[in-house]
Amino acid sequence: MTPLIAGNWKMNGLLASARTLAETIAAKVAGATRAIPEVALCPPAALVHAVGQVIEQQAKGGQTVALGAQDCHPKEKGAHTGDTSAWLLKDMGCRYVIVGHSERRADHGETDATVQSKAAAAHAAGLIPIVCVGETEAERDRGETEAVIARQVAGSLPAAATAANTVIAYEPVWAIGTGRTPTVPEIAAVHTQIRALFAQRHGAADGLRILYGGSVKGSNAAEVLAAKGVNGALVGGASLDPVDFWRIIEACPMSPGGAP
Ligand code: PGA
Repeated sequence: MTPLIAGNWKMNGLLASARTLAETIAAKVAGATRAIPEVALCPPAALVHAVGQVIEQQAKGGQTVALGAQDCHPKEKGAHTGDTSAWLLKDMGCRYVIVGHSERRADHGETDATVQSKAAAAHAAGLIPIVCVGETEAERDRGETEAVIARQVAGSLPAAATAANTVIAYEPVWAIGTGRTPTVPEIAAVHTQIRALFAQRHGAADGLRILYGGSVKGSNAAEVLAAKGVNGALVGGASLDPVDFWRIIEACPMSPGGAP
């Protein structure tokens, strides 16, 4: 499977800076002289269209960047002020949509059931949801990581999830934006657990991409991305710096610790 490095820009960037950042990344990806992972950019909803246009303009041969978004509504359309449907994201050229990010679970009270309905909408619209799961620091300290992951994976994935139509991101909440990361064996253990849970409920999981997210940067990417069962990364802060983001892309092994 081809690994995936996805940049989650969160609520950062204005029109001009987003265009410049996307242009820089798209040009580097198109000019890559050796095989690199798939690269996706997930700008804020209001910038998705502009970033999509930049990606399209840069697509003159060479590898192209995939477009993604950070959230979608479970419904196709209707009276949901301020929300964005998966169908609109698809129409704007998206391939991916992040759902269930811990910041949305915390800021907007999203439950596993909400996340599941959003992932199902993504599937119905022809998008690949990047479904996020991860324990808080208190849960890890209480030894509940395995139970939390099991509950979130079971509750957040739609029944129709397959290795081809879904990506899972393991993002320990305490590692997001903090500069702290779990150890490589801790990451590998959770990825192995997620793959086994997926196989039980959804069938073949060998081709399932399970990303690690939380304080991935150029300086730790090689170590984290080589962990067993890690098939790429969901990158927040470091994805806003094209030099560091590129270091992460280059550090990603093309046959990552991958197999179950
Ligand atoms: P971070 O964020 O890389 O800034 O820790 C990751 C994420 O929240 O997706």
